[in-house]
Amino acid sequence: MAESILEHLKSEPSWAFFLITFAFFSLLTLFLSFLRWVYVTFLRPGKNLKKYGSWALITGPTDGIGKAFAFQLADKGLNLVLVGRNPDKLNEVLEAIKSKSRSIQIETVVMDFAGDLNDGVSRIKEVIQGLDIGVLINNAGISYPYARFLHEVDDKLLNDLIKVNVEGITKVTQAVLPGMVARKRGAIVNIGSGSATVIPSDPLYSVYSATKAYIDQFSRCLYVEYKKSGIDVQCQAPLYVATKMVRFRRSSFFVPSPDGYARAGLRWIGYEPRCTPYWTHSILWALVHSLPEWIVDWWRLKSCLKTRKTELSKI
Ligand SMILES: NC(=O)c1ccc[n+]([C@@H]2O[C@H](COP(=O)([O-])OP(=O)(O)OC[C@H]3O[C@@H](n4cnc5c(N)ncnc54)[C@H](OP(=O)(O)O)[C@@H]3O)[C@@H](O)[C@H]2O)c1
Repeated sequence: MAESILEHLKSEPSWAFFLITFAFFSLLTLFLSFLRWVYVTFLRPGKNLKKYGSWALITGPTDGIGKAFAFQLADKGLNLVLVGRNPDKLNEVLEAIKSKSRSIQIETVVMDFAGDLNDGVSRIKEVIQGLDIGVLINNAGISYPYARFLHEVDDKLLNDLIKVNVEGITKVTQAVLPGMVARKRGAIVNIGSGSATVIPSDPLYSVYSATKAYIDQFSRCLYVEYKKSGIDVQCQAPLYVATKMVRFRRSSFFVPSPDGYARAGLRWIGYEPRCTPYWTHSILWALVHSLPEWIVDWWRLKSCLKTRKTELSKI
């Protein structure tokens, strides 16, 4: 059968032979990529996170994605250091986790990433001294309250975005790394965003998106820098997740709940340095990459202008 196909091909003019061979290998590559996607997305087992250490430190664990990560890490038996700005919300999360996972130890650090970072980081260093921090989830982040042109971004918002999304994550990572290096193991997950990694531009969210591009490159460099020290660094780039940060408060096919996202996110820890763990997000990623950038730019600008109009009408 294969021989007769080969004979038939050989009888074709050489340009047709090359075209058919090219099409065959393109389809084969596509098929193998699809099989790989099915494996890593649905079948590949998550790593045993306890092998990195018995404690996890999570920033921004009082809401949304960070809160979901905190509950699920506790479910897996990891002790937690919760770093957040609101002591009441931190206590609420602590009590809720303890009532579900009684054997878990939890420490809290009150730290406003838009406030005195050095003070906050020195308190983190005190609390984690002697703790076997194996997993660090740099999740705390802020965005714009609504879509704005750059000349409308006030100084406070600009400074907060850079402090929380760039300086904060960098300094917390610096504080946690020495222990991981000494123990020769660790996993660092930096929550980036599809706004910097998946779509070519995020107009009217330029500073937010640029801070997330920093996280993407920061993570990639650290991935290479610390690979030989046994530390797996990863940037997770979610698209929309139904949290208070975005306008989707209810989950849907393309917008997972924080729990749905965190479940997928945990399964990716320790693997690829850059990923978008939720399966429908990865379909959108592939779709976006198959389109010309100008079409995605045009669609994104149109949709941001539309939501801006709606948001402004509510003010
Ligand atoms: N939701 C999405 O569609 C989406 C998409 C892509 C990327 N992300 C990223 O995912 C991460 C989590 O976002 P989310 O959607 O879960 O948002 P969220 O529900 O607003 O939660 C953000 C968390 O960060 C904390 N936080 C905010 N500002 C802080 C500050 N100044 N100091 C200390 N903690 C602070 C919040 O504390 P409070 O509870 O006190 O507010 C909360 O715990 C962010 O880095 C975000 O950029 C989200």
